Amino acid sequence: MPIHTIIEPFKIKTVEPIRWTMRGERDELLRAAHYNLFLLRAEDVLIDLLTDSGTGAMSTRQWAAMMEGDESYAGSRSFDHFRESVQGIFGYKHVIPTHQGRAAERILFSVMCKKGDIVPNNTHFDTTRANIEFVGAEAVDLLIPEGREPACVLPFKGNMDVNALDQLIGRAGRERVPLVMLTITNNSGGGQPVSMENIRAVSGVCRRHAIPLYFDACRFAENAYFIKLREKGYEWKTPKEIAQEMFRLGDGCTMSAKKDGLANIGGFLCTNDDGLAQQEKNLLILTEGYPTYGGLAGRDLEAIAVGIEEVLDEDYLRYRIVSTGYLGKHISDQGVPIVQPPGGHAIYLDARAFLPHIPPAEFPGVALAAELYLEGGIRSVEIGTLMFGAAAQMDLVRLAIPRRVYTQSHIDYVVEVILEVWKRREQIRGLKLDYEAPFLRHFTARLSTATTSAKNS
Ligand code: F0G
Repeated sequence: MPIHTIIEPFKIKTVEPIRWTMRGERDELLRAAHYNLFLLRAEDVLIDLLTDSGTGAMSTRQWAAMMEGDESYAGSRSFDHFRESVQGIFGYKHVIPTHQGRAAERILFSVMCKKGDIVPNNTHFDTTRANIEFVGAEAVDLLIPEGREPACVLPFKGNMDVNALDQLIGRAGRERVPLVMLTITNNSGGGQPVSMENIRAVSGVCRRHAIPLYFDACRFAENAYFIKLREKGYEWKTPKEIAQEMFRLGDGCTMSAKKDGLANIGGFLCTNDDGLAQQEKNLLILTEGYPTYGGLAGRDLEAIAVGIEEVLDEDYLRYRIVSTGYLGKHISDQGVPIVQPPGGHAIYLDARAFLPHIPPAEFPGVALAAELYLEGGIRSVEIGTLMFGAAAQMDLVRLAIPRRVYTQSHIDYVVEVILEVWKRREQIRGLKLDYEAPFLRHFTARLSTATTSAKNS
């Protein structure tokens, strides 16, 4: 019989203990945090699935490379390593380091956009949208309609609606659309991939209108691997060849190296345009640093140079995608509603379907996230009414998996905790808001239990 068990393709060399808490203690901690898991101390969390950003484990090769970091202010050797590694995969002429993804976004949109402009994307991530709106432009999401239906199963639910893009450009006029973006994978839409066919079609529309196409490339390796698994003609290509082909269809990218850079901090901005690169570097010097370090230490540049190559390793990507899918399968087989199919970096619970007795105004996503913490010390994040207000179309709870950090038994534990909460879902109560900040309220909101929504209490 062939062996089916997928194992972690690494041995563990350094360990970091995690702390158990008792249920009674968690109950107190949860109240003290006003039911907002951002307000917990990380030490009081057993399994932290708040984000996959900057939380990954580095390899022995990355740690060794860090010792070689050249901390020179200008012309650092580490920058050469970084640029060569980025160019080998992304292929763009100019590589501009930044301290993380949103810094690359801020510089890109400050240089390319002005008031009244429109930037289409499959789905803008929050920081991308905020940076576009900050310069007075409009961020428009053009996801295919199926991408908004949690239960709909499609191989490439992150695709952009190409006709809608063409029509938008026709309506608004080419002058108002300075660039088009594609987010790979589509984080805000469930970590769903974009197909090569869709990238090619979007690229075709952009080239026809002479509009540059940029990638939000945070999870490019996971997207490339999904193409290998699901798109005809790519089964024999390596993830690196697929990534190179994707990037050839565009003109530049923003990147958070905290995701598929396998680093704890860092990012970059790429472009083929000499004029733009000059303006971007000028702005970089003003806020991030000199163009050969851009807000990073030389050792960070070395860690990223190695990380973006390691992340394309097929054994790693198979383990990554299979273990995320394993979590999704084992809970959805028992009836737990999730965004289907499982994405690359996270599983998203559909809190409205999980807790139908709690109306959106009583924050079903926050209530469910609080319950997962109470039951098993797991931290997740609500993406719904607390984050977006009444405009939220869904109430989701994201369980993001840090890269190379947790093992199969951790995931089995998470499955068990979710199923326990699922069994007693009817007793879970909604929450009411006691304090909210004027913007980005989910980070600091304080809540307490509401009295109306419990079925049996
Ligand atoms: N684009 C996408 C698709 C992202 O998911 C993120 C960050 C960014 C841009 C910004 O990058 O954090 O390095 O400034 N996502 C994290 C998350 C925060 O939890 O999903 P950054």
